[in-house]
Amino acid sequence: MSDWLWWRDGVVYQIYPRSFLDANGDGVGDLEGIRRRLDHLAWLGVDAIWISPFYPSPMADFGYDVADYCGVDPLFGTLADFDRLLADAHARGIRVVVDWVPNHSSDRHPWFVESRSSRTSAKRDWYVWRDPAPDGGPPNNWFSNFGGPAWTLDPKTGQYYLHSFLPEQPDLNWRNPELVAAMHATLRFWLDRGVDGFRTDVGHRILKDPLLRDNPPNPNVPEQYRNGFLGQLHLHDENHPDVHVAYRAIRRLLDAYDERMMVGEIYIMDGREVAKYLGDGDELHLSFHFKFVHAGFDPAALRREVEEFEALCPAKGWPTWTLSNHDVPRHATRFDHPSLGDARARLAALLLLTLRGTPFLYYGEEIGMRNVPVAEEAMQDPLARRLHPRLCRDGERSPMCWEPGPGAGFTAHPQPWLPLGPQPPRTDVASQCDDRTSLLWLYKDLLALRRAHPSLQRGDYRGLDAPDGVWSYERRSDGERARVALNFSDAPRRVDLGAGRVVAGRRTGAAPLPERAGAVELGPAEGIVAILA
Ligand code: NOJ
Repeated sequence: MSDWLWWRDGVVYQIYPRSFLDANGDGVGDLEGIRRRLDHLAWLGVDAIWISPFYPSPMADFGYDVADYCGVDPLFGTLADFDRLLADAHARGIRVVVDWVPNHSSDRHPWFVESRSSRTSAKRDWYVWRDPAPDGGPPNNWFSNFGGPAWTLDPKTGQYYLHSFLPEQPDLNWRNPELVAAMHATLRFWLDRGVDGFRTDVGHRILKDPLLRDNPPNPNVPEQYRNGFLGQLHLHDENHPDVHVAYRAIRRLLDAYDERMMVGEIYIMDGREVAKYLGDGDELHLSFHFKFVHAGFDPAALRREVEEFEALCPAKGWPTWTLSNHDVPRHATRFDHPSLGDARARLAALLLLTLRGTPFLYYGEEIGMRNVPVAEEAMQDPLARRLHPRLCRDGERSPMCWEPGPGAGFTAHPQPWLPLGPQPPRTDVASQCDDRTSLLWLYKDLLALRRAHPSLQRGDYRGLDAPDGVWSYERRSDGERARVALNFSDAPRRVDLGAGRVVAGRRTGAAPLPERAGAVELGPAEGIVAILA
C-alpha cells in the first residue's frame, strides 16, 4: 500500500528493558541487549518497538520515577548506546517508541528538589503543593494508586505534595505554563534524536480538578473497602476535561515532525472517555483500551469491547489492541488451560493480529511465556511491597527466554534480577525457531500475512453470526476480503467461512488450510483466518 503508515498499519512490540537481554552481565537487561536482538525482531516482522523507561531513576518504581527526562540510566547504558540502538533499528525498518512519564517525576528530579526547597522556590508551582486541612491532615480525600493517601507532608515547608503513585513520584503541575514548556522540551529532545513516538504513562491523570475537590465514594464498592483507591469514584483526581487541551498542544508539537506518534495509557474503563483522547484526529494517535485487556478468555466480552469501541472510535481515530503488558499478568497465564497447551495463546495471537487496530505485543508472548511466580520475600514490585503481594507485577516482568539452559541466553550473571522460570518446556526462542509448528512461527506467519494483506491492516470490521463460543468477523478493504473465526470453546465447532477460494491464510491448529471457504471444522481453542477471492 502506497500510503502505509507505521503506527496504523504496523505492529508494535513492547520491551521491558530490564528483562530483554543483559549484555553487560549484571543480571539486568540493557539498551545494548535490545540492539543485539534487533535481527530477531526484524525476522519476526514487527514494525516498531516500545521501550519502557530507561531514564536516570532511583528505580523506586523501576524507572517510572524519572530523575532526568533526557538521559539514560547507567544501568541501561548511555545516550550513545541509545543512539546506536535507534540507528540500527531504523536501518532494519523498525521504529522506536519511548515511554514518557508526564504525570510525575522522581522526588530526586532536580525540579522537585528545587520545588521542595522552600515555599518561594521558583519551581514550587511545578508540583502540586497545598496547606494541610484544618485538622492538619491531607488537603483532600484522594488516594494513591499504590495505597495510602495521595498526599505526603513535607515537614520542612509545612505543606503536602500530591502523588498519584508512590511518595517518591510527586505529581507534576500541568497547570503551570513553565512546567508544560519544560515537558514539551523533553519531547523535542527525543524527537530531535529521531525517536518515532511516545507511550504516555497514565495519560489521563495529568490534569485534575483545579479546586482539588474530594472524590465521592464508589457506591458499587462495599462500605468496608471504601477506604482506598477503588472505593472512590475518580471524578476529580483524573480525566479533567482540560487534559484534552494539553494533548491537542502535544499533538501540534508532534505534527511539526514527520510521522511521529503518541499512544496513551488511558486507564479508564469507559470506552466513551477513552475515545475522547483521540479527539478529532488532533489528540493522541492511539489509546489503549483496558476493558479489552481485562475482558478474560470470553468471546462475548472481548467481542463486546471491540464492537463498542469500533462504534465509539472517532472517524479520524484508530483503535489499538493489546492483551499483555508489564502491569497485568501475561495472557498466556490468564488464559491457561490444564490440557490445551498453547492452544489458547495461539488463538489470542490470531485475534490480536487480525483485528482492526494496531496490535501491541508484549515481549515473550510470541513464545508463550507465562508469569513466573516470585516468593513474597523476594518481591521487587513496590505495589506488592506497599499494598498487597497479590498485586505483584514481577511475574509478568520475568526475563526473556532466548535459549534453554541456565541464564536462558538472557544473562551470564548467576542471579538475574527476577527468576527466569519455571516456564513450560520449549518456551524459548531458539527451540521454537527450530520448530515450524511453534507459537513463534505462528506469530511470524501472522505478522507476514497481515503485512501482505490490506484487508487485515486497514479493512473494515464486521462481526458475523457464529455458533456458541465462536467469534467470527470479516475484514474488508477495496478488492479484498478476509474471514476470521475463533473457537473459544473447549470442544470442536463447525463454522461457515462464507463462499470463495482461499488464497492465503493461517490456522492455529495443525490441519491444512481448506482450498475453498464454506464449512470448516475448528478444534478446541482453534482459529482460522482466510483471505478469500
Ligand atoms: C503505569 C505504568 O505502566 C506502571 O508500571 C507504573 O507503575 C505507573 N504507571 C506509575 O508510573
